[in-house]
Amino acid sequence: MCGIIGILGDGNVTERVIDGLRRLEYRGYDSAGIATLCDGNSLDRRRAKGKLKNLEEILENQTLDGIVGIGHTRWATHGEPTTENAHPHATEKVAVVHNGIIENFRDLREKLSAKGHQFLTETDTETIVHLITDYIDQGMSSREAAKAALSELHGAFALAIIFEGEDDLMIGARRGSPLVLGYGTNELQDKEMYLGSDAIALSHLTNRIAYLDEGDHVEITRNSVRVFDENGVVVSREIHTVNTDNGNIDKGNYNHFMMKEIYEQPTVVGQTIATLIDPLKGHVELPEMPFNLAEIKNVTIIACGTSYYAAMVAKYWMERLGRIKVDVDIASEFRYREPVMDDGGLSIFISQSGETADTLAALRYAKSQRQHILSILNVAKSSMERESDVVLHTHAGPEVGVASTKAFTCQLAILACFAIAHAKAAGKIDAEEENRLCIALSEVPARMAEVLNHDEAIQEMALEVAKARDVIYLGRGLEYPIAMEGALKLKEISYIHAEGYAAGEMKHGPIALIDKDVPIIVIAPSGRLYEKTVSNMQEVIARKGQVYFFTDIEGAKTDGEAAIATIALPMLDEFVTPILHAIPVQLLSYHVAVAKGTDVDQPRNLAKSVTVE
Ligand code: AGP
Repeated sequence: MCGIIGILGDGNVTERVIDGLRRLEYRGYDSAGIATLCDGNSLDRRRAKGKLKNLEEILENQTLDGIVGIGHTRWATHGEPTTENAHPHATEKVAVVHNGIIENFRDLREKLSAKGHQFLTETDTETIVHLITDYIDQGMSSREAAKAALSELHGAFALAIIFEGEDDLMIGARRGSPLVLGYGTNELQDKEMYLGSDAIALSHLTNRIAYLDEGDHVEITRNSVRVFDENGVVVSREIHTVNTDNGNIDKGNYNHFMMKEIYEQPTVVGQTIATLIDPLKGHVELPEMPFNLAEIKNVTIIACGTSYYAAMVAKYWMERLGRIKVDVDIASEFRYREPVMDDGGLSIFISQSGETADTLAALRYAKSQRQHILSILNVAKSSMERESDVVLHTHAGPEVGVASTKAFTCQLAILACFAIAHAKAAGKIDAEEENRLCIALSEVPARMAEVLNHDEAIQEMALEVAKARDVIYLGRGLEYPIAMEGALKLKEISYIHAEGYAAGEMKHGPIALIDKDVPIIVIAPSGRLYEKTVSNMQEVIARKGQVYFFTDIEGAKTDGEAAIATIALPMLDEFVTPILHAIPVQLLSYHVAVAKGTDVDQPRNLAKSVTVE
């Protein structure tokens, strides 16, 4: 998604704006730009299509100075990803960077065009600068003009705005897209002030962050901050000292953030489990819940993409362990089908970013249906965190690769703990069973580290799979969502079409797809459903399908020979195998993408956090 940074500086800001944009690259983008107030008076800007290095090349040839500046990485919504459509958008009087969508921009554009405004781009954002300019032309001050314009905008936006001739003013606004306020080294004492899409964007500048709320807009000078809530009332927003380590994000000795994050999983999953399971006591200790877990009668779990596949795994866990009815749905469908929800039910929302627009909207719907709201989130202080009754945090650390890996397995770890705690509270398992499951869960990080030893063998597989046009992933029960996740990983970073399927569904149609050119990834640890899945595998092999078999040591012994290649994962309690089997499908997609030369960390057309519908 788009990224925003603004600096009301003490010295030249250009390099630090660009540095902030570099910290925002992980969100995914297709153009970038910067605007500054030159000589404290006139606005100027530089913009470039493609990656940040293109903008830096332009700045080398056409320098841009200024002590006030705004920058932007754009993920195209309205208008092609071109230099002309890149932000900042500006008139002589105003420059704006914007994340989100202005839904009524066409009406506003018509009204402004009729008044003589000339539009140069296809973007909704350009409407904002002309609207503010129009109010200034009518004699309003910059502050009044911005406030008047904001009141006319419909839709979701985060904005940073600077003005001609105003070298001690920057205005920010958030409605539906996050925006944070950063404070310079000494609070409001002739020091710098900042705006950013998130704390990571400002982590090279400050660790003192205030989170603007929905509907807030803020007028910033070097000596004053005035935050107005959605009703125009002046409010204060608490200043937090955030962990700026997030900002020191680098790839270490890995070629891509995604690989670094795959290899971080044993550590971060272990850290996440440790926040809820006391290894000595052998039981789950959830934080205080604002509802009685034992009295929950039904559960709904909503998410998007990879997070949705974590929800699918949780459904199996909670229904099997806790004998409770669990519905799962993708947020973009849930929010519009207006589901009937029993009062007092529990709705769980899973999101790495905590900003996914569809999931946030679904959360708000569930809240309107008097549900208890529990969110499982990886980014602190996100919009979903602020709107949930209770949050369980994954401790994956900043996930920079657009393709989610460590956040996913940390989500599974949290959900496994929650399923155990619920089953115990509901009296469906005893202390002994709880202890057994906690031990199984606590073994996972070590087993994950062992799975990573198969990296080379999976890289070999990838060289073959990379030649395919279509790939099918098969799994049953707890491994069915992992098949879906593996297919998504392959699609999103290698651009090869892939489908995840319930293994039992093959004979109901998809088996017609099988021939010698279609790799079939079969995920089947030994256990209750193993034999059934292997018989599906045999059906595929009989039709010349190229089977790659992800199983465990037992499975490899009995059926490994049948496949083109077999990966034998460590034996583990069936309950926790989905967490383990996520790793080989992550590695496979990574190596296929590398073999194909795609942009592994920032795949085409994708954004790390989809904060628009
Ligand atoms: C996962 O690899 C994708 N990047 C995408 O499906 C992602 O899981 C989805 O957009 C949900 O994001 P969230 O977890 O931040 O809500």
